[in-house]
Amino acid sequence: MEIIKIMVVDDEPGIRSGVSRVLRDFTVSYPFMDEACKFEIIEAPTGEDAIEMVNQSLPDIMLLDNKLPGIQGIEVLEYVSKNHLDILVVMITSYASLEVAVKATKNGAFDFIPKPFTPQELRSSIETITKQVYFRRMTKKLNTAGKQIRFQFLSVLSHELKAPLNAIEGYLQMIEEKQYGDNVDDYMQIVNRSLDRVKGMRSLIMDLLDLTKIESGSTNRDIKKINLTEIAQLSLDSMKPFAIQNDVFLYLNTHNEIIINADARELEIVFNNLISNAIKYNRKDGRVDCSIKQKDGFVIITISDSGIGMTEEELSKLFNEFVRIKNQKTKNISGSGLGLSIVKKIVDSYEGDITVTSIPDKGSTFTVTLPVK
Ligand SMILES: Nc1ncnc2c1ncn2[C@@H]1O[C@H](COP(=O)(O)OP(=O)(O)OP(=O)(O)O)[C@@H](O)[C@H]1O
Ligand SMILES: [Mg+2]
Repeated sequence: MEIIKIMVVDDEPGIRSGVSRVLRDFTVSYPFMDEACKFEIIEAPTGEDAIEMVNQSLPDIMLLDNKLPGIQGIEVLEYVSKNHLDILVVMITSYASLEVAVKATKNGAFDFIPKPFTPQELRSSIETITKQVYFRRMTKKLNTAGKQIRFQFLSVLSHELKAPLNAIEGYLQMIEEKQYGDNVDDYMQIVNRSLDRVKGMRSLIMDLLDLTKIESGSTNRDIKKINLTEIAQLSLDSMKPFAIQNDVFLYLNTHNEIIINADARELEIVFNNLISNAIKYNRKDGRVDCSIKQKDGFVIITISDSGIGMTEEELSKLFNEFVRIKNQKTKNISGSGLGLSIVKKIVDSYEGDITVTSIPDKGSTFTVTLPVK
Protein backbone atom coordinates (compact mmCIF):
# COMPACT_ATOMS: atom_id res chain seq x y z
CA MET A 1 0.00 0.00 0.00
CA GLU A 2 1.23 3.46 -0.90
CA ILE A 3 0.45 5.85 1.93
CA ILE A 4 -0.60 9.37 1.02
CA LYS A 5 -0.53 11.97 3.76
CA ILE A 6 -3.28 14.54 3.78
CA MET A 7 -3.27 17.54 6.09
CA VAL A 8 -6.67 19.11 6.76
CA VAL A 9 -6.36 22.73 7.81
CA ASP A 10 -9.69 23.96 9.10
CA ASP A 11 -10.82 25.63 12.31
CA GLU A 12 -14.10 23.71 12.36
CA PRO A 13 -13.53 20.44 14.24
CA GLY A 14 -16.58 18.97 12.46
CA ILE A 15 -14.98 19.40 9.02
CA ARG A 16 -11.67 17.94 10.18
CA SER A 17 -13.21 14.85 11.72
CA GLY A 18 -15.64 14.53 8.79
CA VAL A 19 -12.76 14.45 6.30
CA SER A 20 -10.93 11.93 8.48
CA ARG A 21 -14.01 9.71 8.61
CA VAL A 22 -14.67 9.86 4.86
CA LEU A 23 -11.07 9.10 3.88
CA ARG A 24 -10.10 6.70 6.65
CA ASP A 25 -11.06 3.56 4.76
CA PHE A 26 -10.95 5.04 1.31
CA THR A 27 -8.46 3.63 -1.20
CA VAL A 28 -7.56 4.76 -4.70
CA SER A 29 -6.15 2.52 -7.35
CA TYR A 30 -5.58 2.95 -11.03
CA PRO A 31 -4.51 0.24 -13.47
CA PHE A 32 -1.05 1.79 -13.79
CA MET A 33 -0.37 1.66 -10.05
CA ASP A 34 1.55 -1.24 -8.55
CA GLU A 35 -0.45 -0.97 -5.37
CA ALA A 36 -3.47 0.92 -4.11
CA CYS A 37 -3.11 4.21 -2.21
CA LYS A 38 -4.38 4.69 1.33
CA PHE A 39 -4.67 7.90 3.26
CA GLU A 40 -3.27 9.13 6.51
CA ILE A 41 -5.00 12.24 7.81
CA ILE A 42 -3.32 14.92 9.91
CA GLU A 43 -5.45 17.69 11.37
CA ALA A 44 -4.41 21.32 11.88
CA PRO A 45 -6.89 23.80 13.43
CA THR A 46 -5.02 26.97 12.38
CA GLY A 47 -2.67 28.20 9.68
CA GLU A 48 0.06 28.67 12.27
CA ASP A 49 -0.29 25.05 13.36
CA ALA A 50 -0.24 23.94 9.73
CA ILE A 51 3.07 25.71 9.06
CA GLU A 52 4.63 24.31 12.18
CA MET A 53 3.49 20.78 11.35
CA VAL A 54 4.59 21.06 7.72
CA ASN A 55 8.07 21.85 8.92
CA GLN A 56 8.14 18.63 10.88
CA SER A 57 6.78 16.31 8.26
CA LEU A 58 5.64 17.12 4.76
CA PRO A 59 2.14 15.99 3.73
CA ASP A 60 1.49 15.10 0.10
CA ILE A 61 -1.80 16.95 -0.04
CA MET A 62 -3.12 19.89 1.99
CA LEU A 63 -6.84 20.58 2.18
CA LEU A 64 -6.78 24.22 3.14
CA ASP A 65 -9.66 26.33 4.34
CA ASN A 66 -9.21 29.97 3.48
CA LYS A 67 -11.06 31.51 6.41
CA LEU A 68 -8.98 30.74 9.47
CA PRO A 69 -8.80 32.46 12.87
CA GLY A 70 -5.19 33.71 12.63
CA ILE A 71 -3.32 33.87 9.36
CA GLN A 72 -5.50 33.13 6.36
CA GLY A 73 -5.39 30.06 4.14
CA ILE A 74 -3.97 32.07 1.28
CA GLU A 75 -0.99 33.03 3.46
CA VAL A 76 -0.33 29.39 4.26
CA LEU A 77 -0.42 28.73 0.53
CA GLU A 78 2.05 31.56 -0.03
CA TYR A 79 4.33 30.01 2.58
CA VAL A 80 4.19 26.65 0.82
CA SER A 81 4.96 28.11 -2.58
CA LYS A 82 7.68 30.49 -1.36
CA ASN A 83 9.49 27.63 0.34
CA HIS A 84 9.03 25.35 -2.66
CA LEU A 85 7.42 22.70 -0.49
CA ASP A 86 6.33 19.73 -2.52
CA ILE A 87 2.67 19.72 -1.43
CA LEU A 88 -0.44 19.71 -3.60
CA VAL A 89 -2.65 22.34 -2.00
CA VAL A 90 -6.40 22.18 -2.46
CA MET A 91 -8.30 25.24 -1.27
CA ILE A 92 -11.60 24.78 0.48
CA THR A 93 -13.67 27.90 -0.06
CA SER A 94 -17.02 28.49 1.54
CA TYR A 95 -18.30 30.70 -1.24
CA ALA A 96 -17.11 31.33 -4.75
CA SER A 97 -14.82 34.24 -4.16
CA LEU A 98 -13.17 35.22 -7.40
CA GLU A 99 -10.47 37.21 -5.68
CA VAL A 100 -9.34 34.35 -3.49
CA ALA A 101 -9.48 31.94 -6.40
CA VAL A 102 -7.26 34.12 -8.59
CA LYS A 103 -4.76 34.70 -5.84
CA ALA A 104 -4.71 31.03 -4.93
CA THR A 105 -4.14 29.93 -8.51
CA LYS A 106 -1.29 32.40 -8.81
CA ASN A 107 0.27 30.82 -5.77
CA GLY A 108 0.01 27.38 -7.21
CA ALA A 109 -3.15 25.98 -5.60
CA PHE A 110 -3.83 22.73 -7.37
CA ASP A 111 -7.60 22.58 -7.04
CA PHE A 112 -10.66 23.96 -5.25
CA ILE A 113 -13.34 22.20 -3.32
CA PRO A 114 -16.39 24.34 -2.68
CA LYS A 115 -17.80 24.18 0.82
CA PRO A 116 -20.07 22.50 1.83
CA PHE A 117 -19.11 19.29 0.03
CA THR A 118 -20.56 15.79 0.11
CA PRO A 119 -18.43 12.77 1.00
CA GLN A 120 -18.68 11.69 -2.65
CA GLU A 121 -17.41 15.07 -3.89
CA LEU A 122 -14.50 14.87 -1.49
CA ARG A 123 -13.61 11.34 -2.58
CA SER A 124 -13.71 12.14 -6.25
CA SER A 125 -11.49 15.21 -5.77
CA ILE A 126 -9.05 13.18 -3.73
CA GLU A 127 -9.02 10.51 -6.40
CA THR A 128 -7.84 12.93 -9.08
CA ILE A 129 -5.29 14.52 -6.81
CA THR A 130 -3.95 11.13 -5.76
CA LYS A 131 -3.13 10.38 -9.37
CA GLN A 132 -1.00 13.53 -9.45
CA VAL A 133 0.74 12.66 -6.19
CA TYR A 134 1.46 9.20 -7.53
CA PHE A 135 2.97 10.52 -10.75
CA ARG A 136 5.11 12.98 -8.85
CA ARG A 137 6.39 10.23 -6.58
CA MET A 138 7.24 7.96 -9.46
CA THR A 139 9.06 10.71 -11.33
CA LYS A 140 11.02 11.58 -8.23
CA LYS A 141 11.98 7.97 -7.66
CA LEU A 142 13.12 7.54 -11.25
CA ASN A 143 15.12 10.75 -11.08
CA THR A 144 16.95 9.88 -7.90
CA ALA A 145 17.65 6.33 -9.03
CA GLY A 146 18.94 7.63 -12.36
CA LYS A 147 21.07 10.30 -10.74
CA GLN A 148 22.56 7.86 -8.30
CA ILE A 149 23.48 5.43 -11.04
CA ARG A 150 24.96 8.20 -13.18
CA PHE A 151 26.98 9.43 -10.24
CA GLN A 152 28.24 5.93 -9.51
CA PHE A 153 29.05 5.45 -13.17
CA LEU A 154 31.14 8.57 -13.20
CA SER A 155 32.98 7.81 -9.99
CA VAL A 156 33.74 4.24 -11.00
CA LEU A 157 34.74 5.29 -14.47
CA SER A 158 37.11 7.96 -13.26
CA HIS A 159 38.54 5.72 -10.59
CA GLU A 160 38.88 2.58 -12.66
CA LEU A 161 40.23 4.32 -15.74
CA LYS A 162 42.59 6.65 -13.93
CA ALA A 163 44.77 3.93 -12.48
CA PRO A 164 45.53 2.13 -15.77
CA LEU A 165 45.99 5.42 -17.60
CA ASN A 166 48.54 6.55 -15.04
CA ALA A 167 50.34 3.23 -15.32
CA ILE A 168 50.47 3.35 -19.12
CA GLU A 169 51.61 6.95 -19.06
CA GLY A 170 54.39 5.96 -16.68
CA TYR A 171 55.50 3.10 -18.93
CA LEU A 172 55.47 5.29 -22.03
CA GLN A 173 57.62 7.87 -20.23
CA MET A 174 60.11 5.16 -19.33
CA ILE A 175 60.32 4.24 -22.99
CA GLU A 176 60.56 7.87 -24.06
CA GLU A 177 63.45 8.40 -21.68
CA LYS A 178 65.02 5.12 -22.84
CA GLN A 179 65.40 4.08 -19.22
CA TYR A 180 66.40 0.52 -20.17
CA GLY A 181 68.86 1.52 -22.87
CA ASP A 182 68.65 1.14 -26.63
CA ASN A 183 67.65 -2.51 -26.90
CA VAL A 184 63.95 -2.80 -27.79
CA ASP A 185 63.72 -6.30 -26.26
CA ASP A 186 64.39 -4.86 -22.83
CA TYR A 187 61.14 -2.97 -23.02
CA MET A 188 58.92 -5.95 -23.76
CA GLN A 189 57.91 -6.44 -20.15
CA ILE A 190 56.55 -2.91 -19.74
CA VAL A 191 54.97 -3.00 -23.19
CA ASN A 192 53.11 -6.17 -22.17
CA ARG A 193 52.05 -4.61 -18.91
CA SER A 194 50.70 -1.65 -20.82
CA LEU A 195 48.80 -3.95 -23.15
CA ASP A 196 47.26 -5.74 -20.14
CA ARG A 197 46.12 -2.41 -18.77
CA VAL A 198 44.57 -1.48 -22.12
CA LYS A 199 42.74 -4.81 -22.13
CA GLY A 200 41.37 -4.11 -18.65
CA MET A 201 40.11 -0.70 -19.72
CA ARG A 202 38.51 -2.15 -22.81
CA SER A 203 36.61 -4.76 -20.83
CA LEU A 204 35.37 -2.13 -18.37
CA ILE A 205 34.12 0.00 -21.24
CA MET A 206 32.47 -3.02 -22.85
CA ASP A 207 30.74 -3.82 -19.55
CA LEU A 208 29.42 -0.28 -19.32
CA LEU A 209 28.19 -0.43 -22.88
CA ASP A 210 26.40 -3.72 -22.23
CA LEU A 211 24.80 -2.25 -19.16
CA THR A 212 23.59 0.94 -20.79
CA LYS A 213 22.27 -1.00 -23.76
CA ILE A 214 20.31 -3.37 -21.56
CA GLU A 215 19.04 -0.51 -19.41
CA SER A 216 17.82 1.60 -22.29
CA GLY A 217 16.24 -1.49 -23.81
CA SER A 218 17.88 -0.62 -27.09
CA THR A 219 19.46 -3.98 -27.80
CA ASN A 220 18.46 -5.33 -31.13
CA ARG A 221 17.65 -8.71 -29.78
CA ASP A 222 18.03 -11.65 -32.04
CA ILE A 223 15.91 -14.32 -30.41
CA LYS A 224 16.16 -17.72 -32.01
CA LYS A 225 16.80 -21.36 -31.19
CA ILE A 226 20.32 -21.66 -29.82
CA ASN A 227 22.31 -24.51 -28.35
CA LEU A 228 23.38 -23.56 -24.83
CA THR A 229 26.03 -26.27 -24.65
CA GLU A 230 27.71 -24.73 -27.65
CA ILE A 231 27.62 -21.27 -26.12
CA ALA A 232 29.04 -22.56 -22.84
CA GLN A 233 31.83 -24.27 -24.79
CA LEU A 234 32.59 -21.07 -26.72
CA SER A 235 32.73 -19.09 -23.53
CA LEU A 236 34.97 -21.64 -21.79
CA ASP A 237 37.31 -21.64 -24.81
CA SER A 238 37.59 -17.89 -24.74
CA MET A 239 38.33 -17.96 -21.00
CA LYS A 240 41.02 -20.62 -21.32
CA PRO A 241 44.00 -18.25 -21.44
CA PHE A 242 42.69 -16.44 -18.38
CA ALA A 243 42.25 -19.77 -16.57
CA ILE A 244 45.78 -20.89 -17.45
CA GLN A 245 47.15 -17.59 -16.14
CA ASN A 246 45.34 -18.25 -12.87
CA ASP A 247 46.18 -21.98 -12.66
CA VAL A 248 42.52 -22.91 -12.72
CA PHE A 249 41.00 -25.89 -14.58
CA LEU A 250 37.74 -25.62 -16.50
CA TYR A 251 35.21 -28.43 -16.96
CA LEU A 252 32.01 -28.62 -18.98
CA ASN A 253 29.85 -31.45 -17.68
CA THR A 254 27.33 -31.47 -20.51
CA HIS A 255 27.62 -32.63 -24.05
CA ASN A 256 24.05 -32.94 -25.21
CA GLU A 257 22.38 -30.25 -27.23
CA ILE A 258 20.30 -28.01 -25.03
CA ILE A 259 18.09 -25.81 -27.14
CA ILE A 260 16.52 -22.61 -25.87
CA ASN A 261 14.92 -19.56 -27.47
CA ALA A 262 17.21 -16.65 -26.68
CA ASP A 263 19.72 -14.15 -27.97
CA ALA A 264 23.08 -15.91 -28.26
CA ARG A 265 25.09 -12.79 -27.53
CA GLU A 266 23.23 -12.13 -24.28
CA LEU A 267 23.66 -15.71 -23.10
CA GLU A 268 27.35 -15.45 -23.91
CA ILE A 269 27.57 -12.39 -21.65
CA VAL A 270 25.96 -14.46 -18.87
CA PHE A 271 28.45 -17.32 -19.25
CA ASN A 272 31.45 -15.04 -19.71
CA ASN A 273 30.74 -13.13 -16.53
CA LEU A 274 29.98 -16.13 -14.35
CA ILE A 275 32.94 -18.11 -15.64
CA SER A 276 35.36 -15.19 -15.42
CA ASN A 277 34.29 -14.63 -11.81
CA ALA A 278 34.67 -18.33 -11.04
CA ILE A 279 38.25 -18.17 -12.36
CA LYS A 280 39.09 -14.79 -10.87
CA TYR A 281 37.87 -15.57 -7.35
CA ASN A 282 39.38 -19.06 -7.31
CA ARG A 283 42.58 -20.47 -5.76
CA LYS A 284 45.71 -21.89 -7.35
CA ASP A 285 44.99 -25.31 -8.89
CA GLY A 286 41.30 -24.72 -8.35
CA ARG A 287 38.49 -25.80 -10.66
CA VAL A 288 35.41 -24.44 -12.35
CA ASP A 289 32.53 -26.76 -13.22
CA CYS A 290 29.85 -25.73 -15.63
CA SER A 291 26.77 -27.85 -16.13
CA ILE A 292 23.50 -27.39 -18.00
CA LYS A 293 20.38 -29.44 -17.41
CA GLN A 294 16.87 -29.38 -18.72
CA LYS A 295 13.82 -29.92 -16.54
CA ASP A 296 10.09 -29.17 -16.80
CA GLY A 297 10.36 -26.47 -19.44
CA PHE A 298 13.38 -24.81 -17.80
CA VAL A 299 17.10 -25.02 -18.29
CA ILE A 300 19.29 -24.90 -15.25
CA ILE A 301 22.82 -23.65 -15.66
CA THR A 302 25.21 -24.05 -12.75
CA ILE A 303 28.70 -22.68 -12.49
CA SER A 304 30.61 -23.86 -9.43
CA ASP A 305 34.07 -22.92 -8.32
CA SER A 306 36.48 -24.03 -5.63
CA GLY A 307 37.39 -20.47 -4.77
CA ILE A 308 37.37 -17.96 -1.96
CA GLY A 309 33.58 -18.04 -1.48
CA MET A 310 31.51 -15.42 0.29
CA THR A 311 29.84 -15.00 3.66
CA GLU A 312 26.04 -14.71 4.08
CA GLU A 313 26.34 -11.00 4.56
CA GLU A 314 28.46 -10.55 1.45
CA LEU A 315 26.01 -12.61 -0.60
CA SER A 316 23.11 -10.35 0.29
CA LYS A 317 24.65 -7.43 -1.58
CA LEU A 318 25.41 -9.19 -4.85
CA PHE A 319 23.70 -8.38 -8.17
CA ASN A 320 23.60 -4.63 -7.63
CA GLU A 321 25.71 -2.31 -9.73
CA PHE A 322 29.25 -1.64 -8.56
CA VAL A 323 29.14 -4.09 -5.68
CA ARG A 324 32.60 -5.43 -4.98
CA ILE A 325 33.38 -7.39 -1.89
CA LYS A 326 36.32 -5.87 -0.14
CA ASN A 327 38.42 -8.09 2.07
CA GLN A 328 41.93 -9.44 2.38
CA LYS A 329 41.22 -12.15 -0.21
CA THR A 330 39.89 -9.84 -2.92
CA LYS A 331 42.37 -7.04 -2.28
CA ASN A 332 44.50 -7.74 -5.32
CA ILE A 333 41.75 -8.80 -7.71
CA SER A 334 40.55 -6.06 -10.02
CA GLY A 335 37.07 -5.53 -11.43
CA SER A 336 34.36 -2.94 -11.72
CA GLY A 337 31.58 -4.72 -9.86
CA LEU A 338 29.32 -4.58 -12.90
CA GLY A 339 29.46 -8.17 -14.15
CA LEU A 340 26.78 -9.71 -11.94
CA SER A 341 24.41 -6.77 -12.28
CA ILE A 342 24.55 -7.23 -16.05
CA VAL A 343 23.95 -10.97 -15.70
CA LYS A 344 20.98 -10.33 -13.43
CA LYS A 345 19.43 -7.84 -15.86
CA ILE A 346 19.72 -10.28 -18.73
CA VAL A 347 18.32 -13.18 -16.69
CA ASP A 348 15.42 -11.00 -15.51
CA SER A 349 14.65 -10.00 -19.07
CA TYR A 350 13.99 -13.69 -19.85
CA GLU A 351 11.86 -14.02 -16.73
CA GLY A 352 14.53 -16.29 -15.36
CA ASP A 353 16.15 -16.46 -11.99
CA ILE A 354 19.68 -16.38 -10.60
CA THR A 355 20.69 -17.64 -7.18
CA VAL A 356 23.96 -18.27 -5.41
CA THR A 357 25.18 -20.43 -2.59
CA SER A 358 28.62 -20.09 -1.15
CA ILE A 359 30.91 -21.23 1.61
CA PRO A 360 33.92 -19.08 2.52
CA ASP A 361 37.19 -20.71 1.39
CA LYS A 362 35.31 -23.63 -0.17
CA GLY A 363 33.66 -22.06 -3.18
CA SER A 364 30.51 -20.68 -4.75
CA THR A 365 27.79 -21.99 -7.03
CA PHE A 366 25.77 -19.70 -9.24
CA THR A 367 22.56 -21.18 -10.62
CA VAL A 368 20.68 -19.61 -13.51
CA THR A 369 17.22 -20.90 -14.38
CA LEU A 370 15.70 -19.88 -17.71
CA PRO A 371 12.38 -20.81 -19.30
CA VAL A 372 12.92 -22.71 -22.58
CA LYS A 373 9.81 -21.38 -24.39
N1 LIG B 1 32.55 -16.89 -7.97
C1 LIG B 1 32.75 -15.96 -7.02
N2 LIG B 1 33.41 -16.27 -5.87
C2 LIG B 1 33.62 -15.34 -4.93
N3 LIG B 1 33.24 -14.05 -5.04
C3 LIG B 1 32.59 -13.68 -6.15
C4 LIG B 1 32.31 -14.60 -7.19
N4 LIG B 1 31.64 -13.95 -8.16
C5 LIG B 1 31.51 -12.67 -7.74
N5 LIG B 1 32.09 -12.50 -6.53
C6 LIG B 1 32.12 -11.25 -5.73
O1 LIG B 1 31.08 -10.43 -6.19
C7 LIG B 1 31.59 -9.17 -6.61
C8 LIG B 1 30.79 -8.68 -7.79
O2 LIG B 1 31.05 -9.46 -8.95
P1 LIG B 1 30.94 -8.81 -10.37
O3 LIG B 1 31.19 -9.83 -11.40
O4 LIG B 1 29.65 -8.08 -10.42
O5 LIG B 1 32.07 -7.71 -10.38
P2 LIG B 1 33.64 -7.86 -10.56
O6 LIG B 1 34.03 -9.25 -10.90
O7 LIG B 1 34.24 -7.26 -9.35
O8 LIG B 1 33.92 -6.90 -11.77
P3 LIG B 1 33.58 -7.11 -13.32
O9 LIG B 1 32.66 -6.02 -13.66
O10 LIG B 1 34.89 -7.00 -13.99
O11 LIG B 1 32.93 -8.45 -13.46
C9 LIG B 1 33.05 -9.41 -6.90
O12 LIG B 1 33.79 -8.24 -6.72
C10 LIG B 1 33.41 -10.49 -5.92
O13 LIG B 1 33.77 -9.92 -4.70
MG1 LIG C 1 32.98 -10.19 -12.57
